Order: sequence, then structure tokens, then C-alpha cells
Amino acid sequence: MTAKPLISFSKIAAEDPNFLDTDEWPDWQAQFGNTQPLKLEIGFGMGNFLIEMAALEPHTNFIGMDFYHKGIRKLMTRIQKLQLDNIRVAYGDVRFKVPELFKDGELDTIYINFPDPWPKKRHYKRRLIKPDFVKLVAQKLAPKGRVLLATDFEVYAMEMLEFFNADPMFKNLAPDSGFLESREDLPKTKYQKNFINAGHKIYYLEYSRLGIATA
Ligand SMILES: C[S@@+](CC[C@H](N)C(=O)[O-])C[C@H]1O[C@@H](n2cnc3c(N)ncnc32)[C@H](O)[C@@H]1O
Repeated sequence: MTAKPLISFSKIAAEDPNFLDTDEWPDWQAQFGNTQPLKLEIGFGMGNFLIEMAALEPHTNFIGMDFYHKGIRKLMTRIQKLQLDNIRVAYGDVRFKVPELFKDGELDTIYINFPDPWPKKRHYKRRLIKPDFVKLVAQKLAPKGRVLLATDFEVYAMEMLEFFNADPMFKNLAPDSGFLESREDLPKTKYQKNFINAGHKIYYLEYSRLGIATA
């Protein structure tokens, strides 16, 4: 039996109401038709984590942001098939879209699972997690909101730890080593499963945004 072809990207962009290609704040309450908390996954890849989270937490609204066409097509097809009404997909580069699409303090949780590690030294500057991005995350999270990160790349894990620990808006939730032992309560992403199968050590970080206003 041959697999059913995925819907084309242009058809999704033109017709799927769960797909947002916009530069403007979409009024998330109107989008979802309720006031449930908003959780954002940055760089969802093939979207497995988002799908499982949305099914596990029907009283939360999930937004996935990425620019990977193949992953978007796959995810949109699965959202339709499973009839999940608590996921929206926002298209684009998170460095520009997060400031445009969210008001300050609007997000309950942000997940950043296995961001591209850019392992070559000359590419380090391309990494997403930098002090300015950490500030942006603090700005968009509500007080007591959470940001959860995961990577298998030690150098990047240490940078994440350094940058988030240095930001006065965040409290590390694993104060001893800075890294959580495991993350068994959450679904596993595609990359996570591959890295676990390959025997890689995974670095999990979790921070709470302090209950003070951003400057
Ligand atoms: C290494 S993959 C990880 C995918 C998924 N989170 C997982 O764990 O299986 C990184 C993902 O982040 C996306 N990504 C990287 N930089 C991005 C950016 N600036 N804006 C939006 N998405 C980005 C890529 O397209 C890719 O889907």
C-alpha cells in the first residue's frame, strides 16, 4: 500500500486555518476561542512533541514555530487527522516572529528541544540561544512561566546554562548541577529518541521566570 501524499505547503498556507503566516499579533484568545494558557514550542521539527503534548493537555493551547516545510506539512496533516483544536502553527524564523506574534508576558511555557547545535566553532555565532534571546524569552513569559531546554551537545548545554543563569529574570530549577537528571514526564522528540538510542548524554534545563516586571 502506498502512503497518502502530504498536502502541499502552498495549499496549507492558503487554506489551513491552523497555519499562520503572519507578522502581526494574531489575538491568540480569538484564534483558539478560549483563554487557556499558551505554550510555545520553538523549532518543532517533525512535530511529534507538539502533537503528544496537545493530546495530553487538552486544556492548554499549543503553538509551534518553525520554518521547516517538510515538518510543517507532516504536522498539519496530523493535526487535521487527529482533529486537535488546541494547536496552531506559526511559520517563520523565531528570532523575528517571537517579538511580533506575542505580547509581553503572554506565554505560560516555552519549549526549546534540541535547537541546531552548530558544532563547528566558526558557526557558533549562528546558535539561537544567546543573551539577547534569553532576554526575549523572559519578556514573553508570564511571571512564574517556565522555559525548558534540551540538547545533547555539551558545549551548547554549557552556554545555555551560562546565559540563563546570568539573567536575573530566571531561576534554575536544578540548582545543584544546573541540569535536570531526566525529563520522564514529557513526550520525547524525534531527535531525543535518536540521541537516546545512540547512547548520547542529554542535558535538560528548566527555568522559572521570576515574578518581577521586565525593565
Ligand atoms: C535539530 S532540529 C530539532 C527538532 C525537534 N525539536 C526535535 O527535537 O526533534 C531543530 C529545528 O529547529 C528549527 N529551527 C532552527 N532555527 C530556527 C529559527 N531561527 N526559526 C525557526 N525554526 C528554527 C529547524 O528548522 C528544525 O526543525
